[in-house]
Amino acid sequence: MATLSVSARQVSDAASARTQCAVLPVFAGKQPTATARELDKVLGGSIKAALDLGDFSAEKGKTLLLPGNGAIKRVLLVGCGEARKFDRPVQIAFCEAIGRSLRDCKAADALVYAGELGLGEADSEWLCEFLARSVVTALYRYRQTLSKPAAQPALKRLTVNAGKALSTARAKAALEAGLATGLGVNTARELANLPGNICTPSYLAKEARKLGRRYPKLTVKVLSEKQMKELGMGSLLSVSAGSEQPAQLIVMEYKGGSKGAKPYALVGKGITFDSGGISLKPGAKMDEMKFDMGGAASVFGTVHALCELDLPVNAVAIVAAAENMPSGSATKPGDVVTSMAGKTIEILNTDAEGRLVLCDALTYAGRYKPAAVVDIATLTGACVVALGSHAAGLYANNDELADELLAAGTTAHDRAWRMPLWDDYQKQLASNFADMANIGGPEAGSVTAACFLARYAEDYRWAHLDIAGAAWNSSPKGATGRPVALLTRYLRDRAGKR
Ligand code: BES
Ligand code: MN
Ligand code: ZN
Repeated sequence: MATLSVSARQVSDAASARTQCAVLPVFAGKQPTATARELDKVLGGSIKAALDLGDFSAEKGKTLLLPGNGAIKRVLLVGCGEARKFDRPVQIAFCEAIGRSLRDCKAADALVYAGELGLGEADSEWLCEFLARSVVTALYRYRQTLSKPAAQPALKRLTVNAGKALSTARAKAALEAGLATGLGVNTARELANLPGNICTPSYLAKEARKLGRRYPKLTVKVLSEKQMKELGMGSLLSVSAGSEQPAQLIVMEYKGGSKGAKPYALVGKGITFDSGGISLKPGAKMDEMKFDMGGAASVFGTVHALCELDLPVNAVAIVAAAENMPSGSATKPGDVVTSMAGKTIEILNTDAEGRLVLCDALTYAGRYKPAAVVDIATLTGACVVALGSHAAGLYANNDELADELLAAGTTAHDRAWRMPLWDDYQKQLASNFADMANIGGPEAGSVTAACFLARYAEDYRWAHLDIAGAAWNSSPKGATGRPVALLTRYLRDRAGKR
């Protein structure tokens, strides 16, 4: 990753500012902004000339890059639609368009005139944060397994002139929060993009130890299969039974809050490859099941952001990492296993493995007497059918927690949608041979998967995010890094920080 730095600055005289790319908002049907008029003089009228040609429509998200003059090397015009309709979706399009344009040009720095957007204090602050996040995530490129990766984008520094609406100090804090969140998103994307032959459970354990060495407030421990066996994690271990790769239970403790404060627990599904096991998946798109550790990746990304922000909160991150493979030693349909909580499970389908690793991790999380537990998992194809990729499915045994997570998702534009967890669905998990089956039949597959997990989360406030749709883009193929932004926002809200 190219390193990007962010800063806020009040620019009193646009004409004498020095930048490789001045970024100017343009509203449809309105006169050019004061800054645009000032810069136009420096540029000998080329902004006005471009606007007069009518090629640039100022529709939301449209951009036009013009060559500059002297100390201003380029001018990027960004369409903002109609001034009175500059709402959140248009603000998002504005930030994302800037991210794409800066990624694709050779400017090493950019100066964004955000003060001319006509926003109030709260919206300006939000925009600064989202802008930094959009730019840093736009700069991300997957390169690890390419012999000739594309060149790194040139951008090194993003400066925002937030104008009068926002103090420089608050603009700077917002930009830095956006940068930290974006770095976390990129961490999650990189891990989820890595192929299964590199990103194994042991690789994830190594990455966790690396983070632990980098951040003093983070302590990392990794439980081996032997230790998990001693704890009675028969359910988790049944998933790795068919694999050459040993399962790893990765625990990252972040101590930023006061000593006695209960930690917030994040639990991630870390299936580094999901072949389905003996209930083998069909071949088409099976490659995408390398991202079945997307939940774990988002936990790593959130821990990264948390450490970068140095949040005053206690948190514990638990990643249940395993590979789901068929072999002579693999778990078979009909096998009954005993989970750490003592409950027995009849495994009717070895492809419903996420809940099998998560249930033991949830029981383990209980040891921390957590303030709340949120698990994140690419759990069901049924959730993709229900919600597509725009929203993560949210389940919770506590309304307040659900509302906090929904609000965090809306604010961070990383949205979730609440799904029912009614007892009525529980009977679909009945088994004649164990306390429960691991599948609930063809109806409401995402709900019954959550119902299974709920049985292991009765002792604390718990929520589950099914990110099977949200975590991955199918074209072009790649991980999205969701829901790092939601989780980071949630923890910042809990830490009482803005
Ligand atoms: N990892 C999959 C879920 C998944 C599917 C994630 C598509 C992302 C995209 C999960 O382990 C799985 O295989 N679930 C099964 C459950 C079924 C056997 C009850 C599914 O969704 O088909
Ligand atoms: Mn599966
Ligand atoms: Zn899976």
